[in-house]
Amino acid sequence: MKFKTIEWKGNRVRMLDQRRLPQGVCYLDCRGASAVAQAIRTMAIRGAPAIGVAAAMGIALAARKTLSHQPESFVKTLEKVCDEMRQTRPTAVNLFWAVDRMKKIVDQVYTHGVDETRKRLVKEALDILKEDIEINRKIGGYGKRLIKNGDGVLTHCNAGALATGGYGTALGVIYAAWAVGKRFRVFADETRPQLQGARLTAWELLQEKIPVTVITDNMAGWLMTKGEINLVLVGADRIARNGDTANKIGTYSLAVLSKWHDVPFYVAAPTSTLDLTLSSGLAIPIEERKTKEVTHFRGFPVAPKGVKALNPAFDVTPHSLIHAIITEKGLIRKPFQKNLRKMFATPNSIPVRQTGKLRTRHCKGA
Ligand code: MRU
Repeated sequence: MKFKTIEWKGNRVRMLDQRRLPQGVCYLDCRGASAVAQAIRTMAIRGAPAIGVAAAMGIALAARKTLSHQPESFVKTLEKVCDEMRQTRPTAVNLFWAVDRMKKIVDQVYTHGVDETRKRLVKEALDILKEDIEINRKIGGYGKRLIKNGDGVLTHCNAGALATGGYGTALGVIYAAWAVGKRFRVFADETRPQLQGARLTAWELLQEKIPVTVITDNMAGWLMTKGEINLVLVGADRIARNGDTANKIGTYSLAVLSKWHDVPFYVAAPTSTLDLTLSSGLAIPIEERKTKEVTHFRGFPVAPKGVKALNPAFDVTPHSLIHAIITEKGLIRKPFQKNLRKMFATPNSIPVRQTGKLRTRHCKGA
C-alpha cells in the first residue's frame, strides 16, 4: 500500500488521521495511551482490526512510559489503561480481543520484571499488526475467486487498508482479484453519516489506481434492478456464533436488497472478529454516537436546529442473508453455527449470553 494506517515509532504511535481524508493526508502522533484512546473514540483511526492494533499499541506505549519499577504498581497502571481502551468503542470485538491479548502478556510476564514485560508488550503489539496484514492477504487470497471479470462489486463503509493494519478485508478481496488481472467495477456506498465509503474507500482505491464509483446509500437497490451489481462485499465488527454480523449501519438494508435481487452477499473478516461467546447478533452491543454526526456535517447543519435524530453506528445482518464469510482460514458457508464449531472445535462450555432470532421474515426467501 502507498500509505501506512498505523505505525509504532518507539516513543509514539503514528496514525493516518482519517478524519481529515480525503482533503488532507495528515498524521497524528499519539504520545500516550490516553491520546490513542481519544484517537479511537473520535475516529481518527477506525475500523475493527485497526482499532485493535491501536489499542494494543496504546497499551505498549503506556508500558514504555510508565515510570513505575514495582511490578505491582506497573500491573495496576496497565490494567487501568486496558480498561480505558475497552471503553473507547463497544461494538468491534477485535478491540477487546487485542486488549485481552496484551493483558495476557502482562499476567504471564510481570513476574520476570518490568523491563521484560515492557519488551514483550511492544513485541506483542507489533505482532498483532504484522499478523493482521498477513491475515488480510489470506482473506484476499480466498475471496478473489468470487469476483469475475466484468462484475459489479458493491461495498459499504470502509473495510480496507485504512480499517486494518494494512491491505483490508473486503477491500483486500478486491485488491487480490485486481492484482491477478481481473477487471471489474467497484461501487462504494457513501455510507452516511460519516461517509467512510465516499471519503475513505474511494480515496484508498484511487491510491491503488482501482477505479471506483461512489453512490449514495439509497442508490444500491436501483442499481441492483438494473443488473449492475453482481456481488456485495462488506467487512464486519463482530460476528456471533450463528453467523449474525454487526457492521456499519446500512449493511443490513443492503443485505435485504441483495436477497431480494438474488445478489450474493459476502462478509470478509478475520477470525478475531468472531465472538463465539454470543449465540446470536441480538447480544452484540451497538454503539450509539452523538446525533450531531447526523444533523451536521463537519460542523455545518444539514437538519433544522433542535430536531431529534438517531445515530446507531452499526446494525446486525441476520445470518440467513449472508452467503458466506471469508476468513483467513477459508470460506465459511451455511450452516454457520455448525461450520464455525467445526473450524474452531468449539467446546459446548462456551457461555451463551443471549438466545433469540433476528427478524428475517419480511425477506423474500429468507
Ligand atoms: O465506525 P467505523 O468506521 O469504525 O466502522 C467500520 C466498519 O463498520 C467496517 O466495515 C468494519 O470495522 C470492518 S473493517 C475491516
